[in-house]
Amino acid sequence: MNIAANPVIEADQTIYLKDYQKPSFLVDTIDLNIQVFDDHTVVSTKLVMQRQTAGDLVLLGRDLELQSITINGKQLAENEYVLDAEQLVISNAPDQATIETIVKIHPESNTQLEGLYQAAGDLFVTQNEPEGFRKITFYPDRPDVLSVFTTRVEADKKFPVLLANGNLIEKGEAGEGRHYATWQDPTKKPAYLFACVIGDLAVLKDSYVTSEGRNVALEIYAEEKDIPKCHIAMEALKHSMRWDEEHYGRPYDLDNYMIVATSAFNMGAMENKGLNIFNTSCVLADEEFTTDAAIMRVQSVIAHEYFHNWTGNRITCRDWFQLCLKEGLTVFRDQSFSEDLQSAAVQRIDDVAVLKAHQFPEDSGPLSHPPRPDHFVEINNFYTATVYEKGAEINRMMATLLGKEKFRAGTDEYFRRHDGQAVTVEDWVAALTAGSGVDLSAFLIWYNQPGTPKLEAQGEYDAAKQTYRLSLKQSLKTHPKYPNLKAVPIPVALALFDAHSGEQLSLNCESLFENGVKDGVYLFDQDAATIEFTDVTSKPVVSLLRNFSAPVNLEFNYSDEELAFLLQHETNGFNQWQATQTLLDRILLNDHPADIYIQAMLNTVPSLIAHDPLLVSRLFDVPTEGYLASRIDADYQPQVIQEKRNALLDTLARAFGAQAKEIYLSLDPKSQADFSQAMGTRALKNIMLTMIARQGDESAFELAEQQFKNTANMSERLGALRVLVWNDAPQAEKALIDFYLRFKDEALSMDQWFMIQAAHPKADAETIAYLTSHPDYDLGVPNRIRAVSGGLNANPVNTWSFGVQHFIDLAKYLDEKNPIVGSRLLQVLSRWYTLAEPQRSEVKAQLEALKPIVKSKNVSETLSSMLSV
Ligand code: BES
Ligand code: ZN
Repeated sequence: MNIAANPVIEADQTIYLKDYQKPSFLVDTIDLNIQVFDDHTVVSTKLVMQRQTAGDLVLLGRDLELQSITINGKQLAENEYVLDAEQLVISNAPDQATIETIVKIHPESNTQLEGLYQAAGDLFVTQNEPEGFRKITFYPDRPDVLSVFTTRVEADKKFPVLLANGNLIEKGEAGEGRHYATWQDPTKKPAYLFACVIGDLAVLKDSYVTSEGRNVALEIYAEEKDIPKCHIAMEALKHSMRWDEEHYGRPYDLDNYMIVATSAFNMGAMENKGLNIFNTSCVLADEEFTTDAAIMRVQSVIAHEYFHNWTGNRITCRDWFQLCLKEGLTVFRDQSFSEDLQSAAVQRIDDVAVLKAHQFPEDSGPLSHPPRPDHFVEINNFYTATVYEKGAEINRMMATLLGKEKFRAGTDEYFRRHDGQAVTVEDWVAALTAGSGVDLSAFLIWYNQPGTPKLEAQGEYDAAKQTYRLSLKQSLKTHPKYPNLKAVPIPVALALFDAHSGEQLSLNCESLFENGVKDGVYLFDQDAATIEFTDVTSKPVVSLLRNFSAPVNLEFNYSDEELAFLLQHETNGFNQWQATQTLLDRILLNDHPADIYIQAMLNTVPSLIAHDPLLVSRLFDVPTEGYLASRIDADYQPQVIQEKRNALLDTLARAFGAQAKEIYLSLDPKSQADFSQAMGTRALKNIMLTMIARQGDESAFELAEQQFKNTANMSERLGALRVLVWNDAPQAEKALIDFYLRFKDEALSMDQWFMIQAAHPKADAETIAYLTSHPDYDLGVPNRIRAVSGGLNANPVNTWSFGVQHFIDLAKYLDEKNPIVGSRLLQVLSRWYTLAEPQRSEVKAQLEALKPIVKSKNVSETLSSMLSV
């Protein structure tokens, strides 16, 4: 890799962790007065500041029209401060400085969806993490400056809802048809957690009593027609509140908790103190309009943002390099919450699938970085799978090792030490260590270096001694920016099985870590090590990395037969699934024959259906073309992978033969007692329907048409629509029209309509052009862009042909309009260098041509990293 790929960026704009300095001034209180008008907004701010260390008084500000500034009541002359595009600096400020500013901003034309922006005709919202607050007013906009916020919001009465963080302390008339509300947030917080909302929204109300007896008013704000779709989120919120009390001893700390839904949002959701703002896709949930997967997602995002109240808000990050401190921990917490909602094994399967599909490729390519990076140009580019998902895995490894009780003692200590503070990853690991009594400091290595470790294992059975020896080796690919890669601590959860009876054996081995859990866990923290199991009376089958106990690439010379054995006998549902995935990897990437896999599926599936349809639906997972591509480092030919995968799917469908239709007809989601089983039944039914169609049996189309017509459930309706559309069935067009007419006013349902068509296996440039020029396509709404682009990218043959221009055009357009989203979409092309020639050079030339055109830090940093291979 060539590190100095973009000298301009490298020299001018890179920010380094090692340069961290404490802020010279703190802010005791901030008073905001936000007056919204049709064509501008006026923000008047009073900051009571106090010197902490020597240095200039620095206020950050971007795109602000400064009207006036005073210090301790005196107007500042123009020569008393220096103002540029990023900041306002006062050099000789007194130790106690009260600064009052008035600025004019333009939320009505803010398309970047950062700071205060008009999300729709009758809604203004904020998004301030990580650096949006500086687009609202001049402020030391960094997470280690915590202050008490009082916010007055004033607007025309056509916006009846005026919200900000904390308690409503006053409201009233403001003349000329205007009104105001004043809110005060009693807890100190960094500016990125500030929020306000001005709009015309309906509300769903409920309440919750905390373990401490505090009565909390709960409110979810959304468009009137969407209020019935807010009940699942409300239940999930109450459930999350209880869960955090029970599992972490953390009750809620304010008298109200509000959630506001908007369709114009760059991300999923945001944890602003007491006033979360959510993408509609992460709050609206209803069987009729959204899929089962979306319903599960809503519950986990609600939990995630709620859990931030302690891990993120009460204890926040010292600087943005520590982002994974709050995100990695909170993702781990929301994953654990979701494991209690549905089958824990399936939740783990889904989480690992995401990790392997996104984080592993990211970590093996040009965008690879440590979970805690040590430099960046644009922090928005570091809300990555590595920070989030690998960050969560590091916490999970420590939790696995400690076991429930000690982990809880560790988190208790973290909250005891750091409540109200802005801290670092070191502080977190030190608190866990102190609280649990187990030294976890070696886990800091995981935070500080990039790359997915390779874990090589070898087993050897000695029949005479009745021992089984397991040798382990770890290694990391060298990285030019991180020359001193070290061995990391890898918890290896494992089990041995009797190869004949399929029984799990008890483990006799001195090296295992005692964590109070019955699984054997070996902490492997050397470059190489060997452990020995005694009293093993016959050659066992070993199952490694149960529950995916560490985010590593395991290489173990399982025979295909042993993997088939695990698929049938492993009691850990995750490793059962992992066995199918390893077999499929070998079939699809290494040309192993498919018969052992097929036979194992035929042996396992039918008996498991009645018992756990959800798990069975996951056992049918066949790695996506995108995932398979990410496993190929050179000479990747999208077409070849597609053909192999299709051939395997055909074989699988043929092998199930008439059973597919029998299973389809026997499954009845309505007869299932709980949501998760019903969801599994629906998923499995859709898989069977796809198989029947794959068998070339046209009765699949009639079944699909019936399913489409007779259901009120979105997962069933979409499953049927997909089969019709993707097979160009005669009924397809009518179904698409029917869907459109039924759901045209339901944005989230329409996203699915766009996605299905964009993901058609035979979609071509014309299909995409039809969708992107459709009157309902909107470049101002990230969800709609993602629906079409995500659908297109479901088919890498398309991504790497006409898709390249599609993504480049989007990056070009969004570079100015919405660089956060532009930068993310461009990353779809980050593995261009793995393509076979001549495609590789062609795509490279297209990316090079984009370089001089893009201006935003977001897109240029991403592009220059992408080209630095
Ligand atoms: N703090 C983030 C939201 C955020 C992301 C703000 C990027 C600024 C930039 C929030 O807690 C979050 O992580 N949201 C995720 C969903 C979550 C369930 C992982 C998101 O928005 O995708
Ligand atoms: Zn988060």
